[in-house]
Amino acid sequence: MRHLLNPLDFSVEEISNLLDLANDIERNPDKYSKLCEGKKLASLFYEPSTRTRLSFEAAMINLGGSVIGFSSASSSSAAKGESVSDTIRMISCYADICAMRHPKEGAPMVASLKSSIPVINAGDGGHQHPTQTLTDLLTIRSLKGRLDNITIGLCGDLKFGRTVHSLINALARYKNIKFVLISPAELRIPSYIREDVLEKGGFDFEEVTDLEVAMPQLDVLYMTRVQRERFFNEEDYIRMKDCYILDNEKMKFAKDDMLVLHPLPRVNEISVEVDDDPRAGYFKQVQYGVYVRMALILTLLNLVPEDMK
Ligand code: CP
Repeated sequence: MRHLLNPLDFSVEEISNLLDLANDIERNPDKYSKLCEGKKLASLFYEPSTRTRLSFEAAMINLGGSVIGFSSASSSSAAKGESVSDTIRMISCYADICAMRHPKEGAPMVASLKSSIPVINAGDGGHQHPTQTLTDLLTIRSLKGRLDNITIGLCGDLKFGRTVHSLINALARYKNIKFVLISPAELRIPSYIREDVLEKGGFDFEEVTDLEVAMPQLDVLYMTRVQRERFFNEEDYIRMKDCYILDNEKMKFAKDDMLVLHPLPRVNEISVEVDDDPRAGYFKQVQYGVYVRMALILTLLNLVPEDMK
């Protein structure tokens, strides 16, 4: 039995197979519509979510399975003090696989130690968000045609943004990737990513504060929101929240084929006028999130069709 707790839990080859499977699901949805009949996904969300929770639920329903779960800690027995370890022992009796989002870093890992079903980390605190990373990799590969030879700008709250941490870890395994880290000084990438991943790995990376200056070299621009829920005080959040706003004026500095991604939800960091720009990929990214979660559920339940193994 396997879990997905960290984007590095799958090898590059396994990720390639998973993305191939997701692309096949996109092309032939009917082929996959009954593969999870009789199976249940437990959707355990201790923290707010729209995309991750509903795309997991849509993914399981698209595969012919069903879904149980809760969408907030307050509507579960966590409100009465039940531990994650005890909860997962119960859930293992009710479901075949579970997706867990939790505000505490490492909570899905703790759950996996007591679980007899596959546990998928659907976001743990400011730490990792591996299924968003799979979504991002599928989107980049599908829309740019490659995962090697990319200069990617990661912009916004690089300190608390778990999607950025996971994506850097994952992209660091591909060839000729350049990272341009665009943030205010107070929201720089944590040292465990800068030193342990980027510096130790000898990666080409730079840290800058000016989005316009960084823009012309980028193949992909990954925008992120300032993570209000992780700030210790509201004053700091208010001071930082609009540090970057991508609008049509700034898009003039970008390559004609630069891809704009965002894990969403967006607040102000991408002006709605950019939505009509053909380079805006963030709503397509949402659709890829369903295909890749379908592929992940099939993989962890050992239900991948023979012709896709
Ligand atoms: N991208 C993402 O994790 O969105 P949600 O918080 O809505 O799940």
